[in-house]
Amino acid sequence: MSDIQVIGSLNVDMTVRLPRFHAAGETITGEDFNTYLGGKGGNQAMALSRLGASVSFIGMVGEDSNGARYIEALNLAGVDTSGIGTTTEAPTGVALIEVNKRGENRIAVVPGANALCDVDFLSEQQKKQAAPKLLMLQLEIPLYSCMQAARQAEKQGTMVMLDPAPAIPLNDIFLSRLDWITPNESELRLLTGMPIGSISDVENAAKYLLSKGAKRVVAKLGKSGCLYVDSESSLYSPAFSVNAVDTTAAGDSFNAGLAYAIINDMPLEKALRFANAVGALSTTMEGAQAAMPSLEMVEEFLANNIQQS
Ligand code: RIB
Repeated sequence: MSDIQVIGSLNVDMTVRLPRFHAAGETITGEDFNTYLGGKGGNQAMALSRLGASVSFIGMVGEDSNGARYIEALNLAGVDTSGIGTTTEAPTGVALIEVNKRGENRIAVVPGANALCDVDFLSEQQKKQAAPKLLMLQLEIPLYSCMQAARQAEKQGTMVMLDPAPAIPLNDIFLSRLDWITPNESELRLLTGMPIGSISDVENAAKYLLSKGAKRVVAKLGKSGCLYVDSESSLYSPAFSVNAVDTTAAGDSFNAGLAYAIINDMPLEKALRFANAVGALSTTMEGAQAAMPSLEMVEEFLANNIQQS
């Protein structure tokens, strides 16, 4: 049995580094091009395996070289890939990613096989695997499939963490099945329709999600750290200052760090600090999964760095 089950997307990222983001109709010259393994689901699973967690993955790739490359990489990382299906009906998902000089990114995803993760496929795979302690979801496979996966997890007594990315409106039934939801600022704005300009705005929006049924909100605030909110308390955790070269998988790494901390029963303050550190470290290297830190790297980083006040 794996402690953590990730259900989600597997993409191949085609990443170009640019001096700046360009305008519509403009052609500019890129500085560098690479292909990396990505997809929010795959990134979270890979980050967890680097940290030493036992992880299984349920998802779908095309019956093509990208799909084969992906499954091989996850196997090598020790992720249980028995729940990954292959299809001839669509190619493996791809993401076109631009990264500017400041490490900021713009991403366009073509879901391909990820869009074929339907309810029947997922529930068959979920039933084949022993119930994990924690299920991690994102929104790069069909929403209805995510909702059914959360329903099944609830029946199995499994905790559910949703990374609501890319954000779409969510109904109260789905929200009420979430033990953890981890929006960034723009996702929080979309999910609540509320303004997000200050920490108290974030806290109010998080409380709105609690009122809709979510049990705990961890708002990811990028360079400002994160804010935890539940029905009784809230806790702010400042960010670490790093020299970011590529922020592509910062959110995925943060979620993996948070999940690892939860599974290992870290106290809340330590868990948020750990998640911030995993997220920060992932921005100091290029690529999505290529940038995921090991547990040793995170521990060394935590020993040598303090959070910004
Ligand atoms: O969160 C980053 C990921 O978003 C990239 O790896 C890309 O594949 C898109 O899914």
